Amino acid sequence: MTANDAAITWIDVAPATDVPPGEHRVYEINGRFIAVYHAAGALYAIEDLCTHDGNSLSDGPVEGLEVICPRHGARFCLRTGQALTPPAYEPVTSFPVKINSDRLTVGVPN
Ligand code: FES
Repeated sequence: MTANDAAITWIDVAPATDVPPGEHRVYEINGRFIAVYHAAGALYAIEDLCTHDGNSLSDGPVEGLEVICPRHGARFCLRTGQALTPPAYEPVTSFPVKINSDRLTVGVPN
């Protein structure tokens, strides 16, 4: 167990195949809506909540490793959650995600 593992709890959310390449799914985990994206050959998880004005990000298109908010067009990095373009300036929360024994798991802070 690493120091980072001690700070999070891994939550089993779905079968490993639940998010096929090029798609995404939204899961409610501990009262938060978290979108898991399978993009560019890897899995990424971010909170499904635009930091500009609270819109769902998962309704927006994905280009490479960026999701575009469907409401006003802010772009966020799927890997880091960083806000890349106005009108959003604050990052969305990103979460570690991994496959563990054929299950999709998301790490949430303790
Ligand atoms: S609500 Fe997402 S850019 Fe405004």
